[in-house]
Amino acid sequence: MDDLRDKYISLIAGATAEATLEDLRVQAIGKKGEISLKMRELGKMTPEQRQEAGPKLNALKDEITSALAAKKEALADAALDERLRGEWLDVTLPVRARRQGTIHPISQVTEEVTAIFADMGFAVAEGPQVESDWYNFDALNIPGHHPARAEMDTFYTHRGEGDERPPHVLRTHTSPVQIRTMQEQGAPIRIIAPGRVYRADYDMTHTPMFHQVEGLAIDKDISMANLKWVLEEFVKAFFEVDDVELRFRASHFPFTEPSAEVDIRCSWEGGTLKVGEGDDWLEILGSGMVHPKVLEASNIDPTEWQGFAFGMGIDRIAMLKYGIPDLRAFFDSDLRWLRHYGFAALDVPTLRGGLSR
Ligand code: PHE
Repeated sequence: MDDLRDKYISLIAGATAEATLEDLRVQAIGKKGEISLKMRELGKMTPEQRQEAGPKLNALKDEITSALAAKKEALADAALDERLRGEWLDVTLPVRARRQGTIHPISQVTEEVTAIFADMGFAVAEGPQVESDWYNFDALNIPGHHPARAEMDTFYTHRGEGDERPPHVLRTHTSPVQIRTMQEQGAPIRIIAPGRVYRADYDMTHTPMFHQVEGLAIDKDISMANLKWVLEEFVKAFFEVDDVELRFRASHFPFTEPSAEVDIRCSWEGGTLKVGEGDDWLEILGSGMVHPKVLEASNIDPTEWQGFAFGMGIDRIAMLKYGIPDLRAFFDSDLRWLRHYGFAALDVPTLRGGLSR
């Protein structure tokens, strides 16, 4: 019996496949297996012999059974390990370097601006690019005769003959989104509205389509101080510098009162822009406290609520931040330009992960 035991235990230990284990099981304890045959012989024994051999045989059978089971499990574990080793994948590896498309600087900067304002609690709002002249002008306190209508070089849509309604316009700024958001959401509000705007103009720094981002905060206790803080935080985060100096220059917009144009301190030494130092000032946006008439046009009670608004050129701040000299190149779809100025598709700008790298 000891020989039988040693033989099978060592055969089981040496098995390398589940099929071998099954063969061994049949050989040892299958119907005609060696151990089973021995058990059958018990019948021919004397009661004394049987009393001695019976339990031993049963114990041997149990031992072989559990040795088989243990080995089977060990083989399965080893197979799984082997498979895991083969299928192993390091998800922490950086993705393959950019191969095809890149993110356009306008999209990149829009994402950056959105990330910064989202951190200050501003949601993103949108409006149509083909706008009624009421939203683009009247509701913003720009009546029909106002010079701002002419100044903006507005594109008008065509009306059929005899159609007396005022034509729609391609929005000349993102400010109509202020009106739409106030009408739809009521106060309080904290939004930015990035998007395309249109004016008939074309040179190094003007294209007939360009991009703005509007900001609007309406609440019960809002002042120019809030505007100033928000803009300072924005400029520091956007240009990725610790300190900036802003200059609020008195200005005029029909839809804000008071109004201010905002400049940032900068230097152009050696032909490259440095924000936060130097003796130059660079205008980056228009802003002010929302005019009571604008609140009224949007069904918000100006005796109860007030707020600030600003409008900034996305293309302009993209040119400044990334040293892009000619605005027109943004829209040429030149692959060499896109490869040079584009951003890797998987580098999503976040405040924590970094905006531009
Ligand atoms: N809409 C203005 C423009 O296009 C910018 C602006 C927005 C100014 C909001 C003040 C407040 O020039």
